[in-house]
Amino acid sequence: MPITIKSAREIELMKEAGRILEIVHDELGKALKPGMSTYEIDRLGEELIRSYGCVPSFLNYNGYPASICVSVNEEVVHGIPSRKRILKEGDIVGLDAGVIYKGYHSDAARTHAIGSVSQEAQDLIRVTRECFFEGIKYAKEGNYLYEISGAIGRYAKSRGYGVVRDLCGHGIGANLHEAPEIPNYEMNRKGVKLRRGMTLAIEPMINIGTDEVEWLDDDWTVVTADDSLSAHYENTVLITEGDPVLLTLSK
Ligand code: MF3
Ligand code: CO
Repeated sequence: MPITIKSAREIELMKEAGRILEIVHDELGKALKPGMSTYEIDRLGEELIRSYGCVPSFLNYNGYPASICVSVNEEVVHGIPSRKRILKEGDIVGLDAGVIYKGYHSDAARTHAIGSVSQEAQDLIRVTRECFFEGIKYAKEGNYLYEISGAIGRYAKSRGYGVVRDLCGHGIGANLHEAPEIPNYEMNRKGVKLRRGMTLAIEPMINIGTDEVEWLDDDWTVVTADDSLSAHYENTVLITEGDPVLLTLSK
């Protein structure tokens, strides 16, 4: 997939895809409680997405079997919802969702605490979100991709965390995954020069322990190799000549 520059019309459609996804995430966040299965989260998520006239982009994507990726504790991303996986107080849960509105995608992830969680879990969730905001300080026309990646990676490292290297953010538009790939660590090359009209899904995945991850036998679920907690935070971002516009975070 090439890097695409979106027209004004495409940007309007992506803004609507983003606005709807933000509502979906807000509603899912409010619904979370101990005793809920990860399957119920997926059911609610798909229902919400379709109620706004959108299609869940993850469902059947490369064979992924659900609409919402639900990743608990040491699961990094791409956890598969299951009736058997029940949330309990003290868990942290990453919810990743994508919607298609009139052919255009938005993609966003949040990590939530279930009830009261450890101080180290709270810190991880907060710093992972902060990593995103460090990165987008550089998300501006004329800057290079490596400035975003480096800012994210340095911020996480300075707090002693492991930055997942095996998965990256990505361009997004009429496809869920477009160029460029957006690493969350310092790169030696500058990467692409940012231009207005690019839309990027920037998504730090941060571990309390090392950066190493493994894939479970379901071929989807990514877990930390050392079983440490992991958090994920993602928004779809529009590059402009000034501050970036966060399409999946209006408030
Ligand atoms: N936000 C994730 C990504 O950008 C979710 C896609 S995984 C899927 O890779 F296969 F489940 F869709
Ligand atoms: Co993504």
